[in-house]
Amino acid sequence: MKIPLLDLKAQYGSIKSKVDNALMRVVESQYFVLSEEVASLEKEICAYCGVSGAAGVASGTDALILAMKALGIKEGDFVITSPFTFFATGEAISILGARPVFADIDPKTYNLDPAKTEEVIKDMDIETRLKVKAVIPVHLYGQCADMDAFGALNEEYGVKIIEDSAQAIGASYKGKKAGSFGDAGAFSFFPSKNLGAFGDGGMVLSNDEKVIERIMELRVHGSRQMYIHEEVGYNSRLDSLQAAILRIKLNELDAWLDRRRIIAEKYDAAFSGLDLVTPFVAESNKHTYHQYTIAYSERDALLRYLGKKGISSRVYYPVPLHLQPCYKDLGYSIGSFPLAEKAAEEVLSLPIYSELTDEKIEYIIQNVTDFVKS
Ligand SMILES: Cc1ncc(COP(=O)(O)O)c(C=O)c1O
Repeated sequence: MKIPLLDLKAQYGSIKSKVDNALMRVVESQYFVLSEEVASLEKEICAYCGVSGAAGVASGTDALILAMKALGIKEGDFVITSPFTFFATGEAISILGARPVFADIDPKTYNLDPAKTEEVIKDMDIETRLKVKAVIPVHLYGQCADMDAFGALNEEYGVKIIEDSAQAIGASYKGKKAGSFGDAGAFSFFPSKNLGAFGDGGMVLSNDEKVIERIMELRVHGSRQMYIHEEVGYNSRLDSLQAAILRIKLNELDAWLDRRRIIAEKYDAAFSGLDLVTPFVAESNKHTYHQYTIAYSERDALLRYLGKKGISSRVYYPVPLHLQPCYKDLGYSIGSFPLAEKAAEEVLSLPIYSELTDEKIEYIIQNVTDFVKS
């Protein structure tokens, strides 16, 4: 049996006529960039996430860059984030000329640990502390970080909180949705995301009208009025074809997330007696299982074994950000963040998507169990 990590073709098959009609609607309109389609998606995502403003942009990476820029992050500022995330989180900070500063993770959820974040701030001398302008908690694998605790850091130290919600659309913490807590939330619509486009796309959400207005200006070359440029901006626009597809998918999202949770429950139950760690879900959280990620001491051998059995699995992420070659100059080394480093050695994500059949789930369970028991 062959089981891919994600089957987007099967997803497309389940909504084909609706998507095709939406695409034709855009083609007929001949409005391809921003447009009513993007404005409608922005409104719909605001309603879904319980936030007052949204701005569609070209990618999740741009969503982070533009959110920070709109919040005033600039060259020389320090921004604290997780070392255990996709590279784009750190990259967005660096692109603005700011300096990424890392703090270790909570080993249960793999999210940035707010207590360790505070320790990092407290360990700085006063002058350096004043440079810390923002913290980016990442809602990794589809589960929210501890947002009350990050809210407290905002109050105590005046740092902006930007949620990297790229993997977590629909996830909630104490009943509120990811992307609705901080000064801004950044989303990615990369095709493999739980709400994925047919190409790149992203969005910034914020309850601060000024932040959204600034991003709407920044995304079109810093311009409010055609050919008049208030500042040097970007070309970072969501296109209408992507928005039309995303509007169709948004209607299906909750049903897809429910199916992911059912699959996760099946995996949890089947793996409970095995010598591996299943995903921990904090009591305050509703997980969306963008990834179903286990931790296992002989992870690489398990990955190879599953591959031989036709089952794709993947390591998100094998090299923490503080050990990336391009961040050598930041002065970190092996041992700087032991929990992130351990996670990078042990995590493995298994196939999870709403079209995964019970037969395939059983096959995955059987093979993981056979290997771990052997
Ligand atoms: C945690 C995280 N942050 C940022 C991004 C960047 O999003 P994009 O690929 O849309 O630029 C991703 C997506 O891959 C991500 O997983």
